[in-house]
Amino acid sequence: MRASNVACLLSLALNVPASYANPLPDPVLVDRATNFNNPVLWEDYPDLDVFRVGDVFYYSSSTFAFSPGAPVLKSYDLVNWTPVSHSVPTLNFGNKYNLNSATDRAYVKGIWASTLRHRSSNDMFYWIGCVESSKTYIWTAPNSGAKANGGEVSNWNWTAAATINKCYYDCGVLIDDDDTMYVAFGNSGIQVAQLSKDGLSEVKSQKVFTPSGNTYLEGSRMYKYNGNYYIFVTRPANAEFVLKSKSPWGPYEQKTLVDNISGPLPNAGVSHQGGIVDTKDGKWYYVAFMDSYPGGRIPVAAPITWSSDGWPSLVKDGNAWGKTYPMPVQTSKTVPPPVGTDDFTGSSLSHEWEWNHNPDNSKWKLAGGSGGLVLQTATITDDLFTARNTLTHRIIGPKSTGTFRIDVSQMKDGDRAGAALFRDIAGYIGVYKDGTSSKVVMVNNLNLDSNWSTKSKGTVAATGPTLAAGTTDIWLRVQADITPAFSGTSAQRTTTFWYSTDGSKYTQLGSALAMTNSYTFFTGYRYAAFNHATKALGGSVTVKSFTMQNI
Ligand SMILES: *[C@@H]1O[C@H](CO)[C@@H](O)[C@H](O)[C@H]1NC(C)=O
Ligand SMILES: *[C@@H]1O[C@H](CO)[C@@H](O)[C@H](O)[C@H]1NC(C)=O
Ligand SMILES: *[C@@H]1O[C@H](CO)[C@@H](O)[C@H](O)[C@H]1NC(C)=O
Repeated sequence: MRASNVACLLSLALNVPASYANPLPDPVLVDRATNFNNPVLWEDYPDLDVFRVGDVFYYSSSTFAFSPGAPVLKSYDLVNWTPVSHSVPTLNFGNKYNLNSATDRAYVKGIWASTLRHRSSNDMFYWIGCVESSKTYIWTAPNSGAKANGGEVSNWNWTAAATINKCYYDCGVLIDDDDTMYVAFGNSGIQVAQLSKDGLSEVKSQKVFTPSGNTYLEGSRMYKYNGNYYIFVTRPANAEFVLKSKSPWGPYEQKTLVDNISGPLPNAGVSHQGGIVDTKDGKWYYVAFMDSYPGGRIPVAAPITWSSDGWPSLVKDGNAWGKTYPMPVQTSKTVPPPVGTDDFTGSSLSHEWEWNHNPDNSKWKLAGGSGGLVLQTATITDDLFTARNTLTHRIIGPKSTGTFRIDVSQMKDGDRAGAALFRDIAGYIGVYKDGTSSKVVMVNNLNLDSNWSTKSKGTVAATGPTLAAGTTDIWLRVQADITPAFSGTSAQRTTTFWYSTDGSKYTQLGSALAMTNSYTFFTGYRYAAFNHATKALGGSVTVKSFTMQNI
């Protein structure tokens, strides 16, 4: 039987609603019903905080200077995830988050490890995060509808609710059974703060744990289970410890959950820095990330069991983190797959997208219907890293293509537009409009230095055709290999750049770009569409579609 037939039969068996537009994406689903494979989502969603409301699992992640920030993903089975919101719709951390100039921008600053929970008593989501090691920002989504509707949110109305004038570094919030809110945070010494009844200010805080031997700890996640308080902390980048106490204020005892565990992917880092969540029927899972550069930090999940005296242990495959485990939840409810085509037909951008900094909202719009996404030039610059309104999309691994169909007919003299492989060492394929001539170019050697200042604005490495007068659409493709090459190999992954004038026949332009495996930029490589002016504003391009596919 062909795989598609199997998938089709299965969809009947699972009673998938007829209205679901994109039926059962692939034969993997056959397997999915009983087992899942790690990573659960091969995309860069680091510093995760997972929790469950009713039938719905939620996942919050850090995004640095990308905007909107702190995406919220949802899942019904802890394995298939899709982004449904962003807790921080506009980065309200200062003017540099608007990417004002080459010397007034915020790459690598912004949202680091932060926390998200739903509070049942007032049906409100709370996102809490420390920015630039100085202030803690709280965003809330009131009247979410989740409480009344089995965890389903009908209204994500994020509001900048408060700022606390201290840093809850790498924080994790716990909403206790009596509705008191606690936040565990800190590096090295771990502290706990108690918040006011409305959750928007601090009542008190104190240090609750000092690691032995000056071990550097961070990444706190706080829980209550069977009457005990737990703080999960990480020793970057290879261990997770569990602190346990009868009181939120300690004293805490420490045990190791994982230390230098191998698996589940070769040449990636050690799985660590995560959190735990239970299913409705009482099974527990630890979800962590692994450093998988050049792709970033990707989530992996494994079951945990509890000892009679309240310590968790990971269910391993031998001594390693398993590649495959039984599916946590059997359900017919599904979320859209991460791959596919975005035609930009909705009334707002999908939560798959994040701008390189806060965008200039006067310079982009969804045209409506099948009109696509209009990107007017927003900055006059010859530096892509200083151009506003570059729209980025996570790359799915291990290998994939991101193809943008772009109408370039409204570009003006001096404009540069195209499809980038976006990170601190970057490249792109694009269209340069000079005078009345539009030519296709491949550019490499765009670099930021270790302070995230622009070191190199790029070099035209190859020139393709000059577009015939009257050309509207061009297809620009970035083909990336983000197979981990972070440890135990000297391999360098590469990306190639392609164009097509008819959407079917693609030609590679330039040679492959060598990607960096360094973690210091933190965010992994992304696909991106850009359009900036070098002479004067007024031009535009229209992104008609974006398609991401595994290859
Ligand atoms: C969203 O919150 C604002 C207050 O921050 C309120 O004025 C508005 O009515 C809310 N919108 C919805 C749809 O709940
Ligand atoms: C971690 O484990 C690997 C094998 O999986 C081993 O080669 C390495 O020495 C270990 N590192 C530490 C710090 O224990
Ligand atoms: C980064 O900034 C520091 C402090 O200003 C300076 O000492 C260092 O030379 C800079 N590094 C680079 C690569 O410019």
